[in-house]
Amino acid sequence: MTTLRTRDTASLTEAEAAEELAALSVEIAHHDALYHGRDAPEISDAAYDALVARNRAIEARFPALVRADSPSRRVGAATAEGFAKSRHGEPMLSLNNVFSQTEFGEFCASIRRFLGLSAEDPLRFVAEPKIDGLSINLLYEDGAFIKGATRGDGIEGEDVTQNLLTIADLPKRLHAPFPARIEIRGEVFMDKADFLAFRTAQEQAAAEREQRRARGEKLGDAVVVPANPRNAAAGSVRQLDARITASRPLKLFAYAMGASSEPPAESHHAFLQRLQHWGFAVNPLSTLLDTEADAEAFQRRIGDQRAALGYDIDGVVYKLDRLDWQRRLGFVGRAPRWATAWKFPAEQATTVLLDIEIQVGRTGALTPRAVMQPVTVGGVVVRHATLHNEDEIARKDIRIGDTVRIQRAGDVIPQVVEVLPDKRPPGAQPFAFPTACPVCGSHAIRDGEDVVRRCTGGLVCPAQAVERLKHFASRRAMDIEGLGEENIQKLFDEGLVRSPADIFRLAHHAERMRQWEGWGARSKKSDEARKVAKLLEAIETRRSVPLERFIFALGIRRIGEQNAKLLARHYHTLEEWRAKMVAAHVIGSEAREELGSIQGIGPAIAEELVEFFAEPRALAALDDLAREAPPLPAESTAAADSPFAGKTLVFTGTLETLTRDEAEAQAERLGAKVTKSVSKKTDFVVVGADAGSKATKAAELGLRILTEAEYRDLAGL
Ligand code: IVH
Repeated sequence: MTTLRTRDTASLTEAEAAEELAALSVEIAHHDALYHGRDAPEISDAAYDALVARNRAIEARFPALVRADSPSRRVGAATAEGFAKSRHGEPMLSLNNVFSQTEFGEFCASIRRFLGLSAEDPLRFVAEPKIDGLSINLLYEDGAFIKGATRGDGIEGEDVTQNLLTIADLPKRLHAPFPARIEIRGEVFMDKADFLAFRTAQEQAAAEREQRRARGEKLGDAVVVPANPRNAAAGSVRQLDARITASRPLKLFAYAMGASSEPPAESHHAFLQRLQHWGFAVNPLSTLLDTEADAEAFQRRIGDQRAALGYDIDGVVYKLDRLDWQRRLGFVGRAPRWATAWKFPAEQATTVLLDIEIQVGRTGALTPRAVMQPVTVGGVVVRHATLHNEDEIARKDIRIGDTVRIQRAGDVIPQVVEVLPDKRPPGAQPFAFPTACPVCGSHAIRDGEDVVRRCTGGLVCPAQAVERLKHFASRRAMDIEGLGEENIQKLFDEGLVRSPADIFRLAHHAERMRQWEGWGARSKKSDEARKVAKLLEAIETRRSVPLERFIFALGIRRIGEQNAKLLARHYHTLEEWRAKMVAAHVIGSEAREELGSIQGIGPAIAEELVEFFAEPRALAALDDLAREAPPLPAESTAAADSPFAGKTLVFTGTLETLTRDEAEAQAERLGAKVTKSVSKKTDFVVVGADAGSKATKAAELGLRILTEAEYRDLAGL
């Protein structure tokens, strides 16, 4: 949803400014919630900063328009649900940044001015590497760890005590002597190596989860693949189950204090020594600098070591060593006057852009990627960079052959910052973003405001084909037993299944399939020996499914189960639906009006359908499928001899022998209409374990109630 307006703020009218500030408030709140609340930012820090800067610039021009909910008035993010809130004894603040020697010099001059010091008075600083992790506040009473919280909005955070207790670096008791009550602040983080291993494990878990989904099995919690160590650390600390936190390789460095019942030390460097005495890990690179002039060399030295360090840092924090001066200086806004973060510039390099590749994702999204002459950026060899989308390529005027400056920030995927125009080879042409899918040749179109161009090839695009075939065969769609992710991939790779219709022609290839390892008739394992036969049987039983399932199985964008149902009920037969969809291509036609009149089918969905039917190859694949596996008309799906034919059925409670999806699919196959809520119109209520209000209501209404066993009997299962 990021849409940074590029118009000069000076030319905005008051009404335009008010409108934009309202939009920015919503947009920035959205990114805040993703960053702080779910540890899954959608945009880069730079893009986020640009939004905040734009907001600030407009507010500076129109001070009367500053909103009560302006991002400039907010600190951090709201507390996520699920954790108790915990108020910090003293607010947890952040740091101002400097980016150069000059800015650091100005920071020192402002300290001198404030304290009335002369240029001769040396300023001693403690320099500490700034780790990009999750900051936390730890409360100790009488030397015992009492509770710990995330930063939250700076005033109160989330109580994550149970999770923090699993971190080995966190002292549960302090070594005496200690103040009666003290808050210690520090950073929870993940080492680079641990992060890479963790991310690989998460990627595998995510892939396995996808396989389970394709097989229609029960899914556990969503698997988050973190983009960087910061997200990994933050996500790990904010787990509701502390056992998960315990399994993550988290570390902790302590570096500051909050409220304290007595001053714990004379100076900051003495305080760091106290921290170590109490049992905390303090970053070993932390150094006391005798004068401010030492900062520049320190900054350079740490910058040189940066790539070789075991953890990610994004700068160095300089803190005035004298605590009495710190107290006098105090805070301005959200940051102390006595400390600053000297940030490293993002790691950059220049290289030659050899090509722009277009990748086609599962939903048909065309994503451009820069292929570059390999170059080392911050100790990592980089060959590819993201180009985001076609607008970005046009805006930066990126051409093949250009020398480009690339940058690797905290995030893993490098970006192209800019083109170096002086180095452009003669004859380099502006990049023409393809309007046809590079994989299948179908039209690739952009939908209204969408920055993404998508392939409309659908069923015939190989890049999308495997994913779509998986969807086609999945439990909620055609429900073909034994046709999970792995088998589909194999059948696709062998060239036997390219489109859904091919699945129904597999019987012609039975001999060939039996030759494959693990599928063979000669296999000693009986399940393998019968594998091909079983698969072919399963396919046969699904040759005719209700129209709504058939429509859903096609995997047309925006056509989920609900919309498929609406379409099936409205058009009744495949022939009718197909004819009307083709005719609806003409805007203003009767068929288009009819489509738009279906309750629940909005213009975006209508557009999606029309697009699908306008693609000749998608249409050919559909017709091919319809010949092999003609769906049952919407109103005569009932298996005539089943006791459930035409009856309305509700499942409630936990079933023992079937998953809910499975039970519903079976009942539908027997001609039942499965609904979620119990009413007078319900014919049967199948009651599993721990059934709640629906069972009670069914009894009240005097409906026919079946146990799971009775249901299976009647259904002939
Ligand atoms: S001191 C009032 N020291 O940087 C001073 N912060 O931008 C508060 N950070 O939220 C912070 N290393 O998450 C401090 N050695 C260090 C730090 C450090 C990393 C983070 C911390 C804080 C943020 C401020």
